[in-house]
Amino acid sequence: MTLLVVQEVSVAFGSRVVLQDVSFTMSAGELVALQGPSGSGKSCLLAVIGGLQTPDSGSVTLDGAPVLLGDDAQRRQVGLMLQGLGLLPMLTAAENIEVPLQVADGTLSPTEVIASSSAALARVGLEDRSDRLVEELSGGQRQRVALARAVVHSPALVLADEPTSALDGSLRTLAVELLRAEADRGAGVIVATHDPAVVGWADRVLLLHDGALVEG
Ligand SMILES: Nc1ncnc2c1ncn2[C@@H]1O[C@H](COP(=O)(O)OP(=O)(O)OP(=O)(O)O)[C@@H](O)[C@H]1O
Ligand SMILES: [Mg+2]
Repeated sequence: MTLLVVQEVSVAFGSRVVLQDVSFTMSAGELVALQGPSGSGKSCLLAVIGGLQTPDSGSVTLDGAPVLLGDDAQRRQVGLMLQGLGLLPMLTAAENIEVPLQVADGTLSPTEVIASSSAALARVGLEDRSDRLVEELSGGQRQRVALARAVVHSPALVLADEPTSALDGSLRTLAVELLRAEADRGAGVIVATHDPAVVGWADRVLLLHDGALVEG
């Protein structure tokens, strides 16, 4: 089943072209590694697909509907892990997951929200850190909180920007296995990465060069 259609997406900042005529489709259940040199446009492409940035031309369709900037229903279908992580340092690890989950799904009871957050933190090996303030966590621990938050609501599309860059050894394997498991439950997963471990588990590689897709 086609989940995502990206059609001739172009983005420029002033005279600097960041994405040019990027087109690809992906199916539900696919894990796609998005590769390319630093500055090639990976984060920008994820922002466009996630509805955080409007392209200058072209379109993105998720599950048959055009992706619109700030569409709440669409936002619930997407799990975003941005390169800057976007965690609130003065909240605990658990609260960073619970607050957006409660906002995203008003039908969940507080008990269900807490249980979902605990389960997501356990998936990234942080069950014993849930009550720690984010500002007290290491870089790799923060990265895992952001990953847990991206998947806690079982989104149809997971977009993860360099999710393993601060992890090593078994933690990297844990994160990659989580992303693979998300695809295996039927989500589309796009991971911007330089990590060969992620590429090894991917169904497909998309390679960006100066904003253009050179392999797909
Ligand atoms: N808001 C912006 N204004 C101007 N230029 C921008 C903006 N956002 C991104 N760019 C430029 O777009 C290009 C692509 O940036 P992007 O962050 O998508 O690269 P990337 O492939 O994710 O790199 P990295 O591997 O370092 O994360 C860069 O040259 C960057 O300077
Ligand atoms: Mg980037």
